[in-house]
Amino acid sequence: MAEPSALSIRDLAVQFRNEQGVIRALDGVSFDLRAGQTLGIVGESGCGKSVTARSILRLIDRPGRITGGQILLDPAGPQAIDLTALDPDSRQMQQVRGGRIGLIFQEPMTALSVHYTVGNQIIEAIRQHRDLSKADAKAQAIALLGEVGIPHPQRRIDAYPFELSGGLRQRVGIAMALAGNPDIVIADEPTTALDVTTQAQILGLLQRLQREKGIALMLITHDMGVIAEMADEVAVMYLGRIVETAPVERLFAAPRHPYTRALLRAVPSILATPRQRLSTIGGAVPHPGLRPTGCSFHPRCTEMLGERCRREIPASVPLGVSGGASCFLPGASE
Ligand SMILES: Nc1ncnc2c1ncn2[C@@H]1O[C@H](COP(=O)(O)OP(=O)(O)OP(=O)(O)O)[C@@H](O)[C@H]1O
Ligand SMILES: [Mg+2]
Repeated sequence: MAEPSALSIRDLAVQFRNEQGVIRALDGVSFDLRAGQTLGIVGESGCGKSVTARSILRLIDRPGRITGGQILLDPAGPQAIDLTALDPDSRQMQQVRGGRIGLIFQEPMTALSVHYTVGNQIIEAIRQHRDLSKADAKAQAIALLGEVGIPHPQRRIDAYPFELSGGLRQRVGIAMALAGNPDIVIADEPTTALDVTTQAQILGLLQRLQREKGIALMLITHDMGVIAEMADEVAVMYLGRIVETAPVERLFAAPRHPYTRALLRAVPSILATPRQRLSTIGGAVPHPGLRPTGCSFHPRCTEMLGERCRREIPASVPLGVSGGASCFLPGASE
């Protein structure tokens, strides 16, 4: 049986307004993040992955605005909350941010200040969400630093972020995200800024913490290898929409959307000879202000059916564990 949803995103629309006009960065995004599972969100640069993450935490700043849809926390629970209805600065939203939903950034310094020690920042984050004395919070902070694999946490707690390597800083970033004991964590490209060896270590750490703590992890990446390693379910994004969702095994065994197939072809294979060129997807993601008619992917699609793809927008991906693709190709949507 499928786990209940920890978070349900329904028809989410986000717009940025500038002198040139309105940019529809998210245009009807729907998916579920299930309790205790890892959902991978994958797509090329500019598809709206970070905007989705920031919208959930209500961190979209002007000129950005949520213009439609719902973000339901605990949708089936007695105290379901629609986060789109909350004031981003309200006490309730501050409790959700960090308390219910932790955020791990690509660049850990986004979450850290250069002016305070690692310990002071984690203690502060713990005390924001839990009613603990300073001494108890400090003990918790040391325990947390140990959990994220920082050696000598009793000593390192007095370090400043700049005294740590990139890998250790991201471990501190993960500790910050976990300080409020969230049941949902959103990690936005948490390893992109790190070297390959450190990437693997940080992903391993995230996977272990996700399993041990039963966290619902929304992992944003543009790397299909990371998806294969980490995700239970996958949502593929293209130009502000979800174009395919699937359990990870099905996505790799039988991808239904031509965009997913193209992303998979672009993954370097360990069997590839060094000289073999990495296949890339032809063309570039158009700017969201210049969204193609019909299926947004049609100008780049190698499997286009014809006029219909240019004119009609395919139905959204069906929700549910087995998922499907938003595409007119036979069998794509069921
Ligand atoms: N502050 C902003 N002002 C105007 N448009 C914005 C702003 N932030 C994002 N956008 C628009 O939203 C689109 C999606 O951006 P987003 O950062 O979510 O992409 P992404 O999928 O996270 O890409 P990447 O893989 O490069 O991180 C962008 O193409 C851009 O047009
Ligand atoms: Mg991003």
